[in-house]
Amino acid sequence: MGEIIKVRGGRHLSGTVNVEGAKNSALKLMAASVIAQGVTVIENVPDIADVTIMSEVLRILGATVVRGDHTLEIDTSYLISYETPYELVAKMRASISILGPLITRFGCAKVAMPGGCQIGSRKLDLHISGLQALGVEFNTEHGFIHATTPHGLRGATITLEFPSVGATENLMMAGISAEGRTVIDNAAREPEIVDLANMLNEMGADIRGQGTPVIEIQGTRDFVPCTHRTVGDRIEAGTFLVAGALCGGPLTVCGVNPAHLDLALAKLRKMGCVIEANGDCITVSRDKPLQPTDIQTLPHPGFPTDLQAQFMVLCALAQGNSVITENVFENRFMFAGELTRMGAVIRIEGHHALIQGIERLSGAPVSSTDLRGGAALVLAGLVADGETIVSGTEHIDRGYECYVEKLAFLGADIERGPSA
Ligand code: EPZ
Repeated sequence: MGEIIKVRGGRHLSGTVNVEGAKNSALKLMAASVIAQGVTVIENVPDIADVTIMSEVLRILGATVVRGDHTLEIDTSYLISYETPYELVAKMRASISILGPLITRFGCAKVAMPGGCQIGSRKLDLHISGLQALGVEFNTEHGFIHATTPHGLRGATITLEFPSVGATENLMMAGISAEGRTVIDNAAREPEIVDLANMLNEMGADIRGQGTPVIEIQGTRDFVPCTHRTVGDRIEAGTFLVAGALCGGPLTVCGVNPAHLDLALAKLRKMGCVIEANGDCITVSRDKPLQPTDIQTLPHPGFPTDLQAQFMVLCALAQGNSVITENVFENRFMFAGELTRMGAVIRIEGHHALIQGIERLSGAPVSSTDLRGGAALVLAGLVADGETIVSGTEHIDRGYECYVEKLAFLGADIERGPSA
């Protein structure tokens, strides 16, 4: 805890980096391993703090987790508990993804209520109401969610008020063992949802429609462990592509499906970048001034909210005014406050950030408010005059493996060290 990242602006960045497996898939694939007894192997797992926390959650349930080189071997043969303690759920909201798997494995679960976080209240009403439709009964006391299935799980048609990623995942992981047919309408369509559904099918589930707004599931009962490779991290890839857009490039990211970043790539082109996609690699370069653009964050395939802060840095340096509207989380502009400390001209009006482009940012001490905001502050430091010191690196370490080393490899003047 309490390290800082020091970055001096002005360097040209170019070269190739490999992105890791997607944090927002790997954590759910790990949770899904609870569904089948035996040894599940997950490949292309990023070496990040959140994976460590989810490994701890699994161990507390009685699983053994052996970590190899970006691989996890999870043996869930002898689970001894269906309870997830508060201190782990409080640390990482994604622990709530253990709810569906526990209900399928044990017919019950006891999971601590996750706290809110910097970007919003992070409610669970869609998870709970959807699971109730499948026959799960809940009571919450002493900060825990107690889920039981006194009459078993029965298939149902569930229409989500909002295409929640987490709710879609929990409903899939419970629905695969519900008797009969389950339909999730207005389901989330993120690539990580598709990755999870594919793994569940490899385990014996019968899921169709993943990646579309309507997911159909035929309940089954026998699940077997499998070996599954995590999909590449489109958000890590997008973060490095913004670094290339800021610092010139050509900068190539490999290990990602370009189709998972359609809108973000279109925005980079609109802002003056040249983008080339080739297989699982994407190359960005820019030799013209940045053009302003408007961005609306939306559920996939809309513009990803997890790239909002990174693109705000680009807009802050564009030749004109941009508007970024955050439609997914209710409080995801704290990062803007830190960016204005570096000279950015940004006015927040509700869900809109009105950004007036300027010539140069100036380096300053700034602090990460959340994972993506922290990563974006480092990006700002790459192009700011002078030195930027980013504190709160523990946020960045939750979702980025070797972020500093990869940027240094691309030519950044950057280092990590103890806080003063
Ligand atoms: C996942 O969060 C990701 N996290 C987030 O990435 C990502 O930003 C988000 O999906 C949207 O793509 C993980 O996968 C671990 P949601 P999740 O349920 O599942 C509201 C990152 O930086 N909502 O789609 O929590 C909620 O309050 C992180 O990697 C309800 O109202 O996202 C939010 O406003 C940040 N009721 C909106 O939906 C519910 O029951 C989106 O939430 C559930 C959600």
